[in-house]
Amino acid sequence: MAPSPKPIAVIAAVSVALCSLYVLTIRRRAATHSKGKTLTDNKPKRTGIVGAIGNTPLIRINSLSDATGCEILGKSEFLNPGGSVKDRVAVKIIEEALESGQLSRGGVVTEGSAGSTAISLATVAPAYGCKCHVVIPDDAAIEKSQILEALGATVERVRPVSITHKDHFVNIARRRATEANKLALKHINQMDAKDVDHANGKETQCTVFSGEHKGGFFADQFENLANYRAHYEGTGPEIWEQTGGQLHAFIAAAGTGGTVAGVSCFLKIPSKERWPVCWKFFGNELCWSCESSEIVGPRSYNCNNFVR
Ligand SMILES: Cc1ncc(COP(=O)(O)O)c(C=O)c1O
Repeated sequence: MAPSPKPIAVIAAVSVALCSLYVLTIRRRAATHSKGKTLTDNKPKRTGIVGAIGNTPLIRINSLSDATGCEILGKSEFLNPGGSVKDRVAVKIIEEALESGQLSRGGVVTEGSAGSTAISLATVAPAYGCKCHVVIPDDAAIEKSQILEALGATVERVRPVSITHKDHFVNIARRRATEANKLALKHINQMDAKDVDHANGKETQCTVFSGEHKGGFFADQFENLANYRAHYEGTGPEIWEQTGGQLHAFIAAAGTGGTVAGVSCFLKIPSKERWPVCWKFFGNELCWSCESSEIVGPRSYNCNNFVR
């Protein structure tokens, strides 16, 4: 005889690279917001490599499910073409930047990242006719540069310094986008293409983007709300549909916090629970307000008010 369904099931999504764990306990009810219309119906129809991103399967983790008596599922984000959940973010960042006119086709997307976001941007930027320039600390494994270069990105390895330093790799990435825009402007005005690096406090030739005429855009995953929206509009609805809306918990490790914020804020709508959300990681505490779509912590804010 088939075993009767467990009253509570837990679903987890595992992003293998970071061992991040999304845990969702599930209830059995409809996966649609309104009759006949699925949550992902409004998603833009994409083709090619971009079309292969998302809709990752949930895989039951037998060991944990059997040990706990809950259904624990992993969302296999490693099956995205770039190998992580960051593909969704890269697509959203680029599409929003193109839509707003901050990025042009043929332009260069810059990012300071030694990890998955850089790989995802390098993977998807060419699909939008864009280039990708990544700045990383020079103590990062050389293989990281090699992977990015194999994907067609240019890589700049710089001395590791504090994030408050103007030459921190993230700050240099931001500056590179500005430099690319200056070059594009000069090109439009048919001016001398010699660039001035004001941020260094002295006149230096910009050699990184000589010949770059379409401008640049700093992806800025930590500050760019497209990161959060990728999960609010994509990952969250997908999980809701795949579980039939029967989930009780969602757990994820956090880097930028985009995944946990976007998915949680989406899930609170149909479930009418856990709003706003709060999470803790690595000794830090951040609160995300689903109402205002912003981080309202850390610490000084009373996150405990939000925990249910
Ligand atoms: C593979 C992978 N998954 C998840 C994350 C974290 O996701 P988020 O930045 O949305 O918190 C990272 C990096 O931070 C990552 O490299």
